[in-house]
Amino acid sequence: MTNRNILVTSALPNANGSIHLGHLLEHIQTDIWVRYQRMRGHQCIYVCADDTHGTAIMLKAEEQDVDPETLISQIKTEHEKDFQDFFISHDNYHSTHSPENEEYSSLIYTRLMDAGHIVVKSVEQLYDPERQMFLADRFIVGTCPKCNADDQYGDNCEACGATYDATDLINPKSTISGADPELKESTHFFFALSNFTEYLKNWTRSGALQDQVANKLAEWLNAGLQDWDISRDAPYFGFEIPGQPEKYFYVWLDAPIGYMASFRNFCDRSEGIAFDDFWNPDSEHELHHFIGKDIINFHALFWPAVLSNSGFRTPTRIHTHGFITVNGQKMSKSRGTFINAGTYKEHLNPEFLRYYYASKLTNSIDDMDINLDDFIQKVNSDLVGKVVNIASRCAGFIRKQFNSRLSSQPTTDLLAEFVSQKAELELNYEAGEFSKLIRQVMSMADKANQYIAEHEPWVKIRQPGNELEVHNVCSDGINMFRIIVAYLKPVLPDLAEKSEKFLNIDPLGWQSIDSPLLNHEINKFKPLLARAEQKSVEAMVEASKETESLVQPEEESVEQILAQIDYDDFAKVDLRVATITNAEAVEGADKLLKLSLDIGIEQRVVFAGIKSAYDPGRLIGKQTVVVANLKPRKMRFGVSEGMVLAAGPGGEDIYLLEPHTGATAGMKVT
Ligand code: MSP
Ligand code: ZN
Repeated sequence: MTNRNILVTSALPNANGSIHLGHLLEHIQTDIWVRYQRMRGHQCIYVCADDTHGTAIMLKAEEQDVDPETLISQIKTEHEKDFQDFFISHDNYHSTHSPENEEYSSLIYTRLMDAGHIVVKSVEQLYDPERQMFLADRFIVGTCPKCNADDQYGDNCEACGATYDATDLINPKSTISGADPELKESTHFFFALSNFTEYLKNWTRSGALQDQVANKLAEWLNAGLQDWDISRDAPYFGFEIPGQPEKYFYVWLDAPIGYMASFRNFCDRSEGIAFDDFWNPDSEHELHHFIGKDIINFHALFWPAVLSNSGFRTPTRIHTHGFITVNGQKMSKSRGTFINAGTYKEHLNPEFLRYYYASKLTNSIDDMDINLDDFIQKVNSDLVGKVVNIASRCAGFIRKQFNSRLSSQPTTDLLAEFVSQKAELELNYEAGEFSKLIRQVMSMADKANQYIAEHEPWVKIRQPGNELEVHNVCSDGINMFRIIVAYLKPVLPDLAEKSEKFLNIDPLGWQSIDSPLLNHEINKFKPLLARAEQKSVEAMVEASKETESLVQPEEESVEQILAQIDYDDFAKVDLRVATITNAEAVEGADKLLKLSLDIGIEQRVVFAGIKSAYDPGRLIGKQTVVVANLKPRKMRFGVSEGMVLAAGPGGEDIYLLEPHTGATAGMKVT
């Protein structure tokens, strides 16, 4: 086997939100592939970073009244923690707002410019005269020119599906200030992508992409590519274009360059890894990007064209995955299925998610459904019921009857059979066909369990003369367990580590799989995994709902906050003062309190996510504002008949109305 040198990336998560199940799919998929390559003995370097630039992050920082630099550094800390919790083995987690990234972005731009691939054009665009900035399509709403639906964004209509230019909208408004946008001209810099249509037709068929992806791109390529606008006007959070004051690189120009920047930063801190060996145009080293299908055009069209025209190599392979859905639907905050990494971790074992994803991942870009019932069933039945069960059935006998020592002779042909399946597993790991390899390994686990069951060591040990057989069967069991854990090690690194301790062995490598443990002393068996509980899943879903039931500015997009409603809409909301007559904790819910409210005209029961701020006892007698005409909502703990309004950043700081002179229950709020 020749040794490979591989650089691997996952797409850079946006620095304006938390890591969620979708990001985790990508990082887990990448990490399994990376750990497999390392286990084979290849050099495999895995880098990532936060994607920090653009208008959205600039506005979000403004809204929180912090510098964008402060915002992105807080988010980076949170992201890094989340990835560690899920055993994602990045060698470096950097930021696109870094000196390395500025250096490579400028270098690439200058080379493209010198080679004549940058075109300057004047562009007419909608401009917010109040906020004094040009408006991207998603910051403009207006009436659809085709079907007259109101409140449609600047690029397409959600009501009729029409696509148009923002300038075609009837009565457009800026979502940032509410102002009427004006048309204004500005100079933009374009990358001459249209020159590279032929090049890309070849490149996309060169073996770097899945066929499904190449076919999708062929549609665009056949229509011919447009030049790509790579500049944005100030104000913008990003890098200024060299020699062009007030002009910035569009975030999607410097984002993929962030892969290089993170790797550069890693090289500068590591011995013996040379940046150029990986990035020179004639490099024999490999470059692999893992991405979701929504960002194919940036990676498989713009990126190779930019690289090949600025003196760098192009990717070896782009591994594209589909989107996840939960219980058959798009992740949704109101259903509690928009699940963040941190929330998952509070309730369930991260390796269960790694295993479940692996069991469903293929080389296709079709979407993947997480069915929460299936999730519990599968991880319990496969991991606890099959894999760990092999060890727990055998370990006690070895310890008690045989002094913790395995027999000196393997007796079952199954061991050789498992080893002989290695080559096929290798192909599946390499191709990202993880679901196939999980099926293959689980069928080994079935056979191992069946073998033990047939030999009934627990019966035989009670009859004299069977010691040798029991010793051999249980030793075989432990050796089969060892092979299975080794095969699953890229998926379940933590289980593998715990098993290595139990087996009293060095870290399992791919080579070592072939040689069984003979006449070898093992350690005391401790339970390796606890079952996933239905109630933990329910609590996780409930907690994901609750994050939304309180106003948390950092969770909301600027559009949501600034989208305006008409006075008529507002007038429909019946706000009343309520007196809290009783408050109690809700069993099984971390954040909820059950409140009894006197709203003057009647009594109501409302569930409110304010437990972090109040002991129930302290609430009785306090007053609050409620939305009295909200349709009752069925929650897991009962029906909630209204909504309590409170203010504050959350946690311990949530404020209700203090009872104050003159307010009586039922009074309308004006
Ligand atoms: N910042 C860009 C990527 C720049 S790469 C040079 C971006 N960020 S993102 O945070 O929106 O998404 C990061 C990755 O997560 C993307 O590959 C995206 O496809 C993936 N996913 C985000 N939501 C997802 C699902 N619901 N399901 C699966 N993957 C999803 O795009
Ligand atoms: Zn329309």
